[in-house]
Amino acid sequence: SRIIYFDTIDSTNNYSKRIAKDTPHGTIIISEEQSGGRGRLGRNWISPKGEGIWMSILLKPEIPPTEGMKMTQIAAAAACQAIRDVTALEAYIKWPNDIVVHGKKVCGILTEMAGELNQIDYLIVGIGINANNLSFPKEFKDVATSLAIEKGEKVDRKTLILDLLSKFEALYCHYIMEGKLDETLSIIRNYSAVLGKSVRIIKGNQECYAIVEEINDEGCLKVRYEDGEEELLISGEVSIR
Ligand code: BTN
Repeated sequence: SRIIYFDTIDSTNNYSKRIAKDTPHGTIIISEEQSGGRGRLGRNWISPKGEGIWMSILLKPEIPPTEGMKMTQIAAAAACQAIRDVTALEAYIKWPNDIVVHGKKVCGILTEMAGELNQIDYLIVGIGINANNLSFPKEFKDVATSLAIEKGEKVDRKTLILDLLSKFEALYCHYIMEGKLDETLSIIRNYSAVLGKSVRIIKGNQECYAIVEEINDEGCLKVRYEDGEEELLISGEVSIR
């Protein structure tokens, strides 16, 4: 598939959106640097030149928008497995879209969609991996790290990108062509940072504690609150600490 490569761009997700209509399914957009990298919940994503992997995958699957968030799970599974295989670091998935190493974030995923009620026009899976960053701004030091910092040596970004993309493609095709999410689910369950744990859930301006009981076959998180109440969480609507 086609790869579009930049030295610098505002955001690979923004660029993908701008070209989506006239660009084929499966196009990869990568930049060495983002001047306006975006994270979830309107946050910034620091994307210094040459230090990380800042990329977006443009997809045009024939699925309804309700299935779109499964792409986040597929990307998280591919990223976590690729980081493990390429760096030998013990990476875990903090459901639904963060990858952590030694409890700190090394990778975030931002999935964005456009389309109608029954059919997606396009879907953009933005993946940011702190690969070779050697330092972080003070306010991020406690929560973010890079693969190089945790491993003590630089990571070959090209190897990691290729590994991640080939895993993503395999899991994606398995889901789109055969309707099967089983391999993705077994990765996100095996390497879950939250399964069986007590987590703090932030919903709008409410905050509560719950135990994570299960990641179900749809990729949703089943939690039990302190009062015994159970709830199924859909990716995107909550933030877990
Ligand atoms: C998050 O954890 O909040 C998601 C971070 C996603 C960052 C990636 S980097 C490539 C793509 N372009 C962006 O502007 N954001 C995503």
